[in-house]
Amino acid sequence: MLRTHTCGELRIVDVEKEVTLSGWVQKVRNKGGMVWVDLRDRYGITQLIFEEGSTAPEIVESAKNLGREYVIKATGIVAERFAKNNKIPTGDIEIKPNKIEILNSSKTPPFTIEDETDGGEDLRMKYRYLDLRRTVIREKLQLRHVMMQQIRSFLSGQDFIEVETPVLIKSTPEGARDFVVPSRMNSGEFYALPQSPQTFKQLLMVSGFDRYFQIVKCFRDEDLRADRQPEFTQIDCEMSFVDAEDIYNNFEGLVKHLFKNVKGIELNEVPRMSYADAMKLYGSDKPDTRFEMKFTELNDVAQNKGFNVFDSAELVVGINAKGCAEYTRKQLDALTDFVRRPQIGAKGLVYVKYLSAEQAGNIDGAFKSSVDKFYTQDDLKAWADKMGAEPGDLLLVLSGDTRHTQNALNELRLHMGSALGLRDKNTFAPLWVVDFPLLEWDEETKRFHAMHHPFTSPKAEDMDKLDANPGEVRANAYDMVINGVEVGGGSIRIHDRGTQKLMFKHLGFTDEEAQAQFGFLMDAFEYGAPPHGGIAFGFDRLCALFGGSDSIRDYIAFPKNNSGRDIMIDSPSPISEEQLKELAIKLD
Ligand code: AMO
Repeated sequence: MLRTHTCGELRIVDVEKEVTLSGWVQKVRNKGGMVWVDLRDRYGITQLIFEEGSTAPEIVESAKNLGREYVIKATGIVAERFAKNNKIPTGDIEIKPNKIEILNSSKTPPFTIEDETDGGEDLRMKYRYLDLRRTVIREKLQLRHVMMQQIRSFLSGQDFIEVETPVLIKSTPEGARDFVVPSRMNSGEFYALPQSPQTFKQLLMVSGFDRYFQIVKCFRDEDLRADRQPEFTQIDCEMSFVDAEDIYNNFEGLVKHLFKNVKGIELNEVPRMSYADAMKLYGSDKPDTRFEMKFTELNDVAQNKGFNVFDSAELVVGINAKGCAEYTRKQLDALTDFVRRPQIGAKGLVYVKYLSAEQAGNIDGAFKSSVDKFYTQDDLKAWADKMGAEPGDLLLVLSGDTRHTQNALNELRLHMGSALGLRDKNTFAPLWVVDFPLLEWDEETKRFHAMHHPFTSPKAEDMDKLDANPGEVRANAYDMVINGVEVGGGSIRIHDRGTQKLMFKHLGFTDEEAQAQFGFLMDAFEYGAPPHGGIAFGFDRLCALFGGSDSIRDYIAFPKNNSGRDIMIDSPSPISEEQLKELAIKLD
């Protein structure tokens, strides 16, 4: 028998039992007459003790020679520890082995396999199988497993049916580039890997499945960030005979279920915010609502006072950093540098300190700003009043064109939120962002793009604007945002051929192109397509959020790095001449 118990199982009640444990050697401490070995498996760590005098000399000797990560089997008697370790569940006991067997030796691992490791990211990814031995990483994948089970059980309980859709498909237009797969049997032709199962889930609604879900891999060839992987997992869902309200209720239910059953947190009703308000008040369509610090537009009080930067700006907008009037020159310079970074791109930052009587001392007036030359104390008081500021507060103001300025102030707001400790990982602020624009103008291609995807239905009350003012039409689309992370998005779909055709026309497709790419869907709509809608959650993002991390990478067993590479298996990689020939692919 290779083991009678796991390394996380034995307690004081087991004292005197003879047991056999198998596992990895985490640590050997050799103090002359005594040797301790920490034996680890998935379930925990148990201490083995070898004592000269009471343990057979050859066993003590082999214990001394054990290396890190050796796989061993040890049989012995459970004993109460002299010095207890209350940091681990098995800390009251130890094993006095009378037999040990090396099941496999190990090279010295390239980094320490402990919670705090000396291994850098690249090294850990190259030896991901060793990284996965670390408890902190394993626990993240265990969390993922638990969440997956909870999702399946909740959705199955609500009559959703899990259906698998194909992986070798034809391009789905979700806005990113496709990964393509050449077809040997159809020379010169390619499959695309799904960016999502969008069209298939809609076809399942036409088939009458009524409630579908799938925990499914999706593939997008896009630039990577902490919350983006080229292959990621969605909780993809679709329902028939529903409106947006039904979707909110059902999927708020799912999210509440997860918080309750995985984290023991009871969520209140999820608030809703229009896209327009999100942009106006937070400068982002995924606002972090754990903290206030909302935007205040200052055009009416800050323009036409002779400060050219503001006068020529489309938008002058600020946030109130409460209690920060004491920021030093150095801190303010650092904030200016922050907003000037190329990723953020603001030209400069205007600040106004609203000094308390004590802070002002013998300085003349309560307001001290970087634009004192242009504004009187009364002018600055008007800003402060508009922003609800009090003595002791610091106003941070940016200006420029609306979109860039909102983006930059959003980054600054998040930065200040973190600096002021307002973004606690254990506080969760979910939000529905609703009423997204249907279309988005793209300057580069000089045409409209679907903001969500081309199957999203316009709001009925905006339909009449579609021809004259397409940019103003709102969509029946929604995102779920938690703590500033877009965890899910979906929409009520178009379900008739006429509207779908019209939509493709607005997106710049000719009738022929639309038919060639999406004829199958529009044809299906002619066979009794029910009204339907759905949502997909980013499962990796939900896991990272529940686990308190910013990066989704640790929640994926074998992730890719920022260049989309798996450095462990060294992929992507060239293929042989023979394979290329077989696929009729010529490389330059
Ligand atoms: P969308 O494109 O918004 O919608 O994707 C849904 C959710 O998937 C997550 N997500 C990602 N997670 C990790 N890495 C990525 N590269 C990545 N891209 C997206 C996000 C996002 O909210 N078919 C529609 C859904 C629908 O309309 O029902 C879709 O895919 O959390």
